[in-house]
Amino acid sequence: MGWLLPLVIFLALFTHRFFDLCNKLGVFKEVVPIEPGDCHLIKGIEYGSEDINILPGGLALISSGLKYPLLPNLAPPDHPGQIFLVDLNNPTLRAVELRISRGFEVESFNPHGLSTYIEKDGTVLVFVVNHPQHTSTVELFKFEEEQRSLTHLKTIRHELLNSVNDIIAVSSQSFYATNDHYYSSTYLRILEDCFGFQWGNVVYYSPTEVKQVATGYGFPNGIDISTDGKHIFLAETSFYTIHVMEINPNHSLTPKKSLDVGVLPDNVKVDPKTGHLWIGSCFNLWKALLYNPENPPGSEVIRVESILSKDPKVTHVYMNNGSVLQSTSVAMVYEDKLLIGTIFHKALYCELGSS
Ligand SMILES: *[C@@H]1O[C@H](CO)[C@@H](O)[C@H](O)[C@H]1NC(C)=O
Ligand SMILES: *[C@@H]1O[C@H](CO)[C@@H](O)[C@H](O)[C@H]1NC(C)=O
Repeated sequence: MGWLLPLVIFLALFTHRFFDLCNKLGVFKEVVPIEPGDCHLIKGIEYGSEDINILPGGLALISSGLKYPLLPNLAPPDHPGQIFLVDLNNPTLRAVELRISRGFEVESFNPHGLSTYIEKDGTVLVFVVNHPQHTSTVELFKFEEEQRSLTHLKTIRHELLNSVNDIIAVSSQSFYATNDHYYSSTYLRILEDCFGFQWGNVVYYSPTEVKQVATGYGFPNGIDISTDGKHIFLAETSFYTIHVMEINPNHSLTPKKSLDVGVLPDNVKVDPKTGHLWIGSCFNLWKALLYNPENPPGSEVIRVESILSKDPKVTHVYMNNGSVLQSTSVAMVYEDKLLIGTIFHKALYCELGSS
């Protein structure tokens, strides 16, 4: 009977992990529809709006068309990724595709996380995580508002930027980036997720120094910086957690606190006016993995107020079963509009407090 105890332990561990995994994928989650006001789809976006950055004047830059292992992509074959521009000052929102300058390989463009940095002279730099041929690079563009185009400045590759998901620029040449997995091979990544290994990290990049600044996360995903520039906010998707870290003068990060937000957080965005965090989450992620348009994954948006205080307040702002919006990844406000993006579906805006 020497085998019985190991067998029981194995089954217990396995069922525990299996249950945990189902829980993470949202198998037991119920939808309670919530709309914070009148909501409308943004015209022109059909194949994803994974990350959104809003410039101070109300122009939103949106990455679209992400091809990510195991997740669906509804675009026609060979349809490359795109960056869209949406002017939030208009009453009805419509997306315009930004032209990309010659010399950049648009056919393999697979944009993911996106971050903007405004230089002293007003030049807008756009950092975009790209996955050409399933590798990871960071592309640096200059945004030309008049021409509605992006001029490609350079491609950044580094061995420490091996599995990049999101990025936050902190100067015209440096940024923090998350590697959502240790491995870049799809099969090994699945193992990392199934066993709940916390092998993702955060890397600081500058032309003179590249280093790992935080590690030990299960699917580290969205990253943003506080309005005073003192803290980094990191979404650890597999553990429902937002981490707050202090930025040290040598760019390393010191953990400050963690908050369980009860959803799988994807991108995290800081509202420049209030400092609140806006977080997009794919509701019932398992439905995205087994994609069926008749029974799609849903969408969820939460807002976290005063995360550094003793009693942060978490509010569910938007929830939908996928009949309107599928697989939400990001949310951000500008004036009285809430913009909601998705991994592979459309994009939505809601007029806050309008109904
Ligand atoms: C960076 O700064 C932090 C906090 O001051 C310190 O703990 C850490 O040792 C420093 N790292 C290096 C490599 O100097
Ligand atoms: C989603 O909710 C709508 C009503 O809000 C309902 O009509 C529809 O059947 C639901 N769809 C699914 C797949 O549950």
